[in-house]
Amino acid sequence: MNYILAIESSCDETSAAVMQGQHVLSNIIATQTVHEQYGGVVPELASRAHQANIVPVVQQALEEAGITKEQLCAIAYTQGPGLMGSLHVGSSFAKSFAMSLGIPLLPVHHMQAHILAHFIKANDQTTVPSFPFLCLTVSGGHTQIVKVNAPHEMELIGQTIDDAAGEAFDKAAKVLGLPYPGGPMIDKLAATGDASKYQFTTPRMPGFDFSFSGLKTNLLYFLRDNMKKDDTFIEKEIAHICASYQRTVVAYLIGQLEKAAREIGAKDLCLAGGVSANSELRRRFKEMCERNNWNAFIPPFEYCTDNAAMIGITAHFKYEAKDFGNLTDVPLTSWGI
Ligand code: KG4
Ligand code: ZN
Repeated sequence: MNYILAIESSCDETSAAVMQGQHVLSNIIATQTVHEQYGGVVPELASRAHQANIVPVVQQALEEAGITKEQLCAIAYTQGPGLMGSLHVGSSFAKSFAMSLGIPLLPVHHMQAHILAHFIKANDQTTVPSFPFLCLTVSGGHTQIVKVNAPHEMELIGQTIDDAAGEAFDKAAKVLGLPYPGGPMIDKLAATGDASKYQFTTPRMPGFDFSFSGLKTNLLYFLRDNMKKDDTFIEKEIAHICASYQRTVVAYLIGQLEKAAREIGAKDLCLAGGVSANSELRRRFKEMCERNNWNAFIPPFEYCTDNAAMIGITAHFKYEAKDFGNLTDVPLTSWGI
């Protein structure tokens, strides 16, 4: 049996998973709550928390999988992109562990891993997208449309030129006085709001790129003007504001993806990254695919946000291709797909 231990530490989640082929035997995630009080991830605190969490999280992953470290055939870890201090913890741990066990290393690209999370098999009936397919990856740090030709052959079709979709949610939440990370909160509040009550300007970008900075300014001015007239405006209207803003962000994401899929002639479409947990995005994505007769794929919720199982599935393909790393590999804060 080939068991791979995978480690994810690119941002503020310390995670370890044990994979057996395309199946997940364990996927432990320690979420760092220390950042909430600062309204965003503090890199120094993130790397310290990874140091504290990494050993217990790996131990728990092995225990839950019911295997010993001697049974592992390789160690995978996130090489980038991400925060340098955070990546260092995972990569140094992975290297030391692999060296002590005398087994190979599998450095993994975090954004490729978000996409390949679609190949995790809950059971043998799980259907997976067929190559080539198109993936919209939306996270706290990235917004990309990627054409996936093979597990390790990906082409960037479009990307954000400023904020990521997750930041568009988190920054909006911050000005609305909501706690970090604000994306899930906006989603929750929007469920009881009227999305057509307020109009925000949908951004326009050539090709398949994205820009969210104008929309953020649009929201800021809208709130400032209305708060001048009534200082309880946000409090009273929060659900409608969240619903209207969310609808604009989602319509924009879906619009660009639909344009790209038509031009490229894609048949299988995927959503990946933390923002794919958004209920409006999931709904609109499925609707768009039905309308165009495309196959829609969204990974289960626990594999959408940062987790080590997605690093493990990517490592599985690398292991099969004997695409190993070595002890001199260094973490990469930015790394093209
Ligand atoms: O992929 P991810 O877990 O971490 C990064 O690699 O960035 O994505 C985190 C992002 C955050 O910006 C968070 O607010 C957003 O995903 N997010 C959501 C929802 N759940 C998570 N945004 C909108 N609606 C949600 N339900
Ligand atoms: Zn991520």
